[in-house]
Amino acid sequence: MTRVSIVGASGYVGGELLRLLLRHPQIEIAQATSERRAGQFVHGAHPNLRGYTQLRFSTLATLAPCDVLILALPHGHAARQIERFAELAPRIIDCSADFRLDDAESYARWYGDEHPNPEWLSRFVYGLPEINRERITTARYVSGVGCNATAVNLALLPLARAGALDVARPIVAEVKVGSSEGGDEPNVGSHHPERSHVVRSYAPVGHRHTAEVRQALGIEEIHLSITAVELVRGALATCHTWLREPLTDRDLWRIYRSVYGDEPFVRIVKERSGVYRLPEPKILAGSNLADVGWALDEQSGRVVAIAAIDNLQKGAAGTAIQCLNLIHGWPETTGLETIGLHPV
Ligand SMILES: NC(=O)c1ccc[n+]([C@@H]2O[C@H](COP(=O)([O-])OP(=O)(O)OC[C@H]3O[C@@H](n4cnc5c(N)ncnc54)[C@H](OP(=O)(O)O)[C@@H]3O)[C@@H](O)[C@H]2O)c1
Repeated sequence: MTRVSIVGASGYVGGELLRLLLRHPQIEIAQATSERRAGQFVHGAHPNLRGYTQLRFSTLATLAPCDVLILALPHGHAARQIERFAELAPRIIDCSADFRLDDAESYARWYGDEHPNPEWLSRFVYGLPEINRERITTARYVSGVGCNATAVNLALLPLARAGALDVARPIVAEVKVGSSEGGDEPNVGSHHPERSHVVRSYAPVGHRHTAEVRQALGIEEIHLSITAVELVRGALATCHTWLREPLTDRDLWRIYRSVYGDEPFVRIVKERSGVYRLPEPKILAGSNLADVGWALDEQSGRVVAIAAIDNLQKGAAGTAIQCLNLIHGWPETTGLETIGLHPV
């Protein structure tokens, strides 16, 4: 068995990692850290795990060597302690944004601080298998993905790869997001009377995941707007684009199928009838799937590309486990085959 320790295991991403890895046939969870809950059972923080494990939280200070460390700490913590983490494990997957960008200048621009260990940026591979599968397979250090960035990247990847987009016209991606994106630390905005029933423009401009999308797709004129909506889990990206040359809906089917036809976790969702004709996060809660679709206005050449994910799964823990599987040469779907719920 491969021994994995989860650092920052009391949070929402940590809880999702535990839920998935407890059923993973190749994995033994060595340690799970929480400073606030050290010594307590993990099911105290994650009641859905009651009866599945008797593991207790450890502290960062007592972290022992293991085969793989998965880090799920708040922004900045992994970058500051990366040397120590690398002494503890030969392989690291970091779910934070600390190592997602390739260059220190872009990091400083988007995150507002100098990167504490810039020489480590080039040692990490961006951990979205649908974009970087080959490189992840041989990597020692893999970054996680931004949840909003993942929804946008998967919506647009086929069009970007095919060179179908008019990149002289700005692309605008509106992402509607659930409250678990904010983590388990409460604040005034997450207080139930303030958060419930919102349609709140959280980051109309300047969201940090913009940098990740530009880097992944190689297109500079992409802009994100993030809106908080009445969901706990889920993100829906609605990306407004224009085609470089006229294409038909049949052409777009060919373009999307050529990229996603063999992807185990991407479904093309574009039905002619029914309630769920286009991607919707509601039916993806608890699953690692990304549903991707589009609508074409042939007269104007406008394509609205759409992707839905569960932010804690495909947008964080599930994708991290896809990378864990790839690094070890296990089937990529191992431990990740849960089907989403309907109705919820
Ligand atoms: N939420 C999402 O949808 C999502 C999606 C993609 C990526 N991510 C990224 O994943 C990471 C974790 O996100 P999350 O939503 O799980 O956050 P979270 O719920 O706030 O959990 C943070 C974890 O870090 C631990 N922690 C906090 N401060 C610490 C410190 N000073 N020293 C050691 N441990 C500390 C917490 O443990 P204790 O406080 O119990 O000690 C907790 O286990 C973040 O970097 C986030 O950007 C999140």
